[in-house]
Amino acid sequence: EADLESKLPLKGKKILITAGPTYEAIDPVRFIGNHSSGKMGFDIARRASELGAEVILVSGPTHLKSANSAIKWISVVSAQDMYEACHQYFENVDVAISAAAVADYRPKFVAAQKIKKAAVDLNIELEKTQDILASLGKIKKNQFLIGFALETENEIENAKLKIQKKNLDLIVLNSLQDEGAGFGKATNKITFISKDFAIEPMELKSKEAVAADILNKVIQHFYA
Ligand code: CTP
Ligand code: CA
Repeated sequence: EADLESKLPLKGKKILITAGPTYEAIDPVRFIGNHSSGKMGFDIARRASELGAEVILVSGPTHLKSANSAIKWISVVSAQDMYEACHQYFENVDVAISAAAVADYRPKFVAAQKIKKAAVDLNIELEKTQDILASLGKIKKNQFLIGFALETENEIENAKLKIQKKNLDLIVLNSLQDEGAGFGKATNKITFISKDFAIEPMELKSKEAVAADILNKVIQHFYA
């Protein structure tokens, strides 16, 4: 029935979503991580599922629970794990949304045993992780690819560069300008920038409402 259908506008669509931080091991008991709670990505996953999409949620370590049993949830730890999980599913999805705060660097060598403290300073050599989103941008065919950007200076210019570098269709620029927004908060202040550089600043709102706005962009993509 047409009426019911319209409530599930993403029915038949597959969406891959990344969320949360990644943890990069230093030794068996220590890691490098970040303050991402995973909430933004989980809210996007829940909303996408409510709109009828088939959702694959790849998340780093988080205390959150997947509220919806229809969501296929793949729990990973490191950037490399997340890279591999994303590449396993990307080929078969229609949309990918990269909300994870992926570590940019990891220890070059992981100590097999707990590192003992010594009388001298410790230096840990770091190497770059793979850019998961950029790697998806390189192989994308018809997928609608959405990334996030966190900037503290030249926000718009830097976000536009990320659109081009990672071959994105849309970027969600996170503004830290506002004290109610960002890591560990319930709200976000975002600006949408499309691949043709149309800029759309949004009001400060709950992460649930931001998730709804992002999924509206996905719906527009399929129905415009
Ligand atoms: N991202 C990713 N894999 C990485 C790093 C980032 O998939 N190894 C994704 C994030 O999920 C986000 C986007 O790339 O959607 C931008 O992340 P951000 O940290 O803002 O940008 P970087 O490209 O990492 O550049 P920088 O941190 O230097 O600004
Ligand atoms: Ca980064």
